[in-house]
Amino acid sequence: MWDVLEQFYDSVPRPGSRVEEHGELTLFLQAGDGYPYYARPRFPGGRPTTADVVAMREHQRSLGVPEALEWVHETTPGLLEAAREAGMDVLEAPLMVLDPDQLPEPHPHVRVLDTRPVEVSVVAMLAFSSPGTAVGEAGAAERDAALATATPMSTRHRHAVADLPGEGVLAVGTAQRAGDVVEVVGIGTLPAARRRGLGGAVTAALARDALDRGATLVFLSAGSEEIARVYERIGFRRIGTACIASAEDA
Ligand SMILES: CC(C)(COP(=O)(O)OP(=O)(O)OC[C@H]1O[C@@H](n2cnc3c(N)ncnc32)[C@H](O)[C@@H]1OP(=O)(O)O)[C@@H](O)C(=O)NCCC(=O)NCCS
Repeated sequence: MWDVLEQFYDSVPRPGSRVEEHGELTLFLQAGDGYPYYARPRFPGGRPTTADVVAMREHQRSLGVPEALEWVHETTPGLLEAAREAGMDVLEAPLMVLDPDQLPEPHPHVRVLDTRPVEVSVVAMLAFSSPGTAVGEAGAAERDAALATATPMSTRHRHAVADLPGEGVLAVGTAQRAGDVVEVVGIGTLPAARRRGLGGAVTAALARDALDRGATLVFLSAGSEEIARVYERIGFRRIGTACIASAEDA
């Protein structure tokens, strides 16, 4: 399982990225798709030290990209202390794998697409601007105002939208694939539309779609323990911890 995940993490950002090898760390400099830039332990077997992390942060700063580092704790356990010693903040996110038998029935108004409607970026942006799972203010009016100036992006991933009659797109998500492994990312529900089951339904639709298209492993990392409950309800189980390190002042 851990080797399969490491291979996935090493391969999924490569198309469309510039990749730099820095000893124990690999730096992905992403072009397009809107996904961030980050470094990971070299695949296979990278064992970065505090000095490696400090050097990578300096390099990222010199390039003007975020000082960001990601890894799986179970695969590279020493990096947690090294990253903290190097002065980074580390989010320890529940890493969860799908038990296909537990997937709920499909939601009637969620569909999966191989295009990226402009709503995907806009709804995700509004959702991630209101972190956590609580209901909030921003809703359809804010979405429609942002849509007026948004531009479409091309995609190499699959996307899901919860598009409710009379309400439009309220929740979105994305599935990225490498080989037979699929990671669900970017699940977001407009703050005003939360706690109606839409985040869970979008995630479940992407997972079902991945299985239908032959995926043998579907996984995700949850932003917090609270968010992990949303995914547990639709059949994801915690297997480990995904670490996401950023500059303390970021
Ligand atoms: C996390 C997020 C996507 C969840 O979206 P959501 O549409 O509210 O998710 P759901 O409705 O499926 O589940 C949320 C809660 O509503 C509850 N719920 C589901 N259907 C419900 C219904 N019909 N009535 C009342 N409550 C309901 C769920 O049980 C869950 O409760 P819990 O917090 O006690 O576990 C959303 O809060 C969000 O966009 N957060 C910011 C971005 C983010 O962090 N994304 C995840 C990154 S990993």
